[in-house]
Amino acid sequence: MDFNAYRILEEGENKGQILRMHREDLSPGNVVIQVQYSSLNYKDALAVTGHGKILRQFPLNAGIDAAGLVISSTDPRFEKGEPVLVTGCGLGENHDGGYAEVIRVPGDWVVSLPSGLNLREAMIYGTAGFTAGLCVHRLLVNDQTPDKGPLVITGASGGVGSLALAMLSKLGFDVIAVSGKPEAQERLRALGAKDVVKPEDLALGKRPLESVRFGGGIDNVGGELLEGILRHVNLWGNVASVGLTGGHSYQSSVMPFILRGVSILGISSNNCPMTLRREVWQKLAGAWRPAQLDTYIQSELSLEQILGTAQAMLQRKTSGRYLVKLDGPH
Ligand SMILES: NC(=O)c1ccc[n+]([C@@H]2O[C@H](COP(=O)([O-])OP(=O)(O)OC[C@H]3O[C@@H](n4cnc5c(N)ncnc54)[C@H](OP(=O)(O)O)[C@@H]3O)[C@@H](O)[C@H]2O)c1
Repeated sequence: MDFNAYRILEEGENKGQILRMHREDLSPGNVVIQVQYSSLNYKDALAVTGHGKILRQFPLNAGIDAAGLVISSTDPRFEKGEPVLVTGCGLGENHDGGYAEVIRVPGDWVVSLPSGLNLREAMIYGTAGFTAGLCVHRLLVNDQTPDKGPLVITGASGGVGSLALAMLSKLGFDVIAVSGKPEAQERLRALGAKDVVKPEDLALGKRPLESVRFGGGIDNVGGELLEGILRHVNLWGNVASVGLTGGHSYQSSVMPFILRGVSILGISSNNCPMTLRREVWQKLAGAWRPAQLDTYIQSELSLEQILGTAQAMLQRKTSGRYLVKLDGPH
């Protein structure tokens, strides 16, 4: 059984090619899945363009997400024909990933599709949506409540940001969406944002502690934006640190932590324990599911269209989510 795969052949810029492969060529695993959908995340964009050190071995099929039907399994938890999903766990980093019509993975990485979601919807979420769900989980577990004040979400037009925005506004939080894209304003308000501002218009202060303006937040950007937000967070508020689109380092005084009890919540979706992973997916399929998941999709990509969209994503020219549609082995 031959199939198509978007395979990154070596380290460097734009080293991917669409190749025909055979099941035996794939990284090992005891569950073989016919992939129907994958998605394009920021991390995938770094991987396929070669702009970030995401792949840790070559050659390798890219794609950190996959949803499809089990072709065969020696793991008794999964049956032939069952709909399943895999996100993170090293897929598309050190194990052949979801930009291929077939993947072969260890059963410990596989999540049975929760009822309430179809395979396409699971990949509308993908890693971005799962990560947004992890942020919501960690905020709620750490006692974030709407009465602490509005939550600020940076990189709001992106996958993680826009899905987190919709989930949190559904849960009764006021959300301030921070976006560098004026054209995204209307969409972000439609998703539930009380206010939409450009990063520079936030006018964050520079002193170790500044006036309280936010109950907490979700930060996809890092660097100065994260530094500034922490100074304005209310007593016992939380900021989930997710991303680094603006830089991987930040400086902070300890004042927000020791005088206001503010917490930074680390978010690491890749290695999230399986019990929590399943719990979050159940919530994504039910209580936290935003209305009209379909509206998050900007377009459905073929394997040929991945590279161009990835380049646009790194130039900050995309918003929302991008599905990758796989045709199945033939
Ligand atoms: N920790 C984890 O487990 C985890 C999981 C998934 C993703 N992530 C990270 O989270 C971030 C968001 O991922 P995503 O998939 O949502 O990406 P995305 O769809 O590309 O969204 C990222 C958003 O960040 C903003 N942005 C992009 N470039 C920027 C820059 N140079 N300076 C400031 N802001 C910039 C843009 O929002 P605006 O134009 O609206 O400002 C963009 O829409 C990425 O850094 C990704 O690597 C982490």
